[in-house]
Amino acid sequence: MSTHFTRRNVAKLAAAGTLVGLSETTGVAQISQGTDTRTAQVPTREFPKGFYWGTATSSYQIEGAWNEDGKGPSIWDTYAHTPGNIQNGDTGDVANDHYHRYKEDVALMKNMGANAYRFSIAWPRIFANGTGQPNPKGLDFYNRLVDELVAAGIAPFPTLYHWDLPQALQDKGGWQNRDTTKAFADYAGYMADKLSDRVHHFFTINEFRSFVDMGHQGMDVPISGGTMHIALAPGLKLSRRELNQVRHHAVLGHGMAVQAIRAKGRAGTNVGPAEVIELAVPLIEAPEHIKAAEIATRERNAPFLTVMLEGKYTDGYLKEQGADAPKFTDDELKIIGSPLDFVGINVYRPLIYVLASDQLGQVSGSWREIPFAKGHPKMFNQWLTLGPEALYWAPKFVQSLWKAKEIHITENGCASDDVLVDGDKIYDTDRIVFLRSYLTQLQRASADGVPVMGYFQWSTMDNFEWTSGFGNRFGLVHVDFKTQKRTPKSSALFFRETARQNVVA
Ligand code: FCB
Repeated sequence: MSTHFTRRNVAKLAAAGTLVGLSETTGVAQISQGTDTRTAQVPTREFPKGFYWGTATSSYQIEGAWNEDGKGPSIWDTYAHTPGNIQNGDTGDVANDHYHRYKEDVALMKNMGANAYRFSIAWPRIFANGTGQPNPKGLDFYNRLVDELVAAGIAPFPTLYHWDLPQALQDKGGWQNRDTTKAFADYAGYMADKLSDRVHHFFTINEFRSFVDMGHQGMDVPISGGTMHIALAPGLKLSRRELNQVRHHAVLGHGMAVQAIRAKGRAGTNVGPAEVIELAVPLIEAPEHIKAAEIATRERNAPFLTVMLEGKYTDGYLKEQGADAPKFTDDELKIIGSPLDFVGINVYRPLIYVLASDQLGQVSGSWREIPFAKGHPKMFNQWLTLGPEALYWAPKFVQSLWKAKEIHITENGCASDDVLVDGDKIYDTDRIVFLRSYLTQLQRASADGVPVMGYFQWSTMDNFEWTSGFGNRFGLVHVDFKTQKRTPKSSALFFRETARQNVVA
């Protein structure tokens, strides 16, 4: 039904006796015309009431103060201090100096109309060596940050691990060593105890796939005249078998942290992961292709989201990995599958497009991967293939596959070649087009009844983009890294208006 039903004309129809029923929750209206009673979708453009409009950052990318107030070194300090690892030799030593400027940054978010903020806690600020005696000054920083946020009406959503493992733990084997899972759970429980009077949502780990696979194996990418190895800290090159064990330890650490947070947090503390979903998108929206994409998504996420949400590795994954499959016990699987309050997913792009294969029935043969066309539009980053419908299908599949109670989009955004015009204006039209088209798809999922309750734009402000250093600007706010001047971009206005109206602006 293409008629545009606003709340007002729905009321008119009802008054004229043509509207015979309207469901507030689904937006479905029953319209009667003569003897013909049809069901039509009232096209609400709104997001749910109480929706969290947030922005996101992480500790190493913005805090700076890398060795202040008793903080121990992390693997990212070590990695960035090693020549050749980061573009232009950039480091997070100072980054956005957020450690000292957090009040200004909270005020910026308030001006952008955000009612939520996803940040991460630097584990080595709290436990310099990963375990042992906590560092009161480190905790004090997060207490002050949380207080500032709450006073500004911004709900704090901390992530406990956004990749900055204490170097002292790496020296003992890092995530290869099963003891790291216990150290992580102890630290998570400690934070829940200290913050859950004001913090009601904790994310355990950010992007398992990225820090595990890229940090422990890396990837060779073709460049003119050869290949280039790209990696994240700690920059190891493990075998497939060793990598699978690290993957297993990461999800086990998550499950143990969930249990520790439940044990130590106040009643009403919510917990979930923030994983980058490996999303298969149906190239064509027809039932058989949608089913194929759903099956592919479940398989592609087998070592991370799927095992966390199902408490078991898929047969396909175990078979594919063969003798290299992780070693695990049933008890570990139970811990990994600990019940969650919500699922956080980072969504930037469709990983693959798929169509149903002719051999439906066998898991591995039930979808066909369709290559991206050469001219497929990309954002400033070559890896960021445009695919707004990813923000529809990702939450949709998380709901259909795993019946998630609540879903948060923990990251979405793009870098742009932002330039200052007239000294203080940044017209980032590309970012606005990107956000608008993705958010329209998210709203579509919400209107379908998918329980999406939060959206965190990456990123609050330009920051240290890992191996790209300061060259990739993902922020809604521009940062001059020489002067630390913050300047909101046009996209910050777009975000504010969207949050204010609770509708894509
Ligand atoms: C994600 C990371 C985040 C940021 C964005 C651009 O993979 O979680 O820290 O780098 O990409």
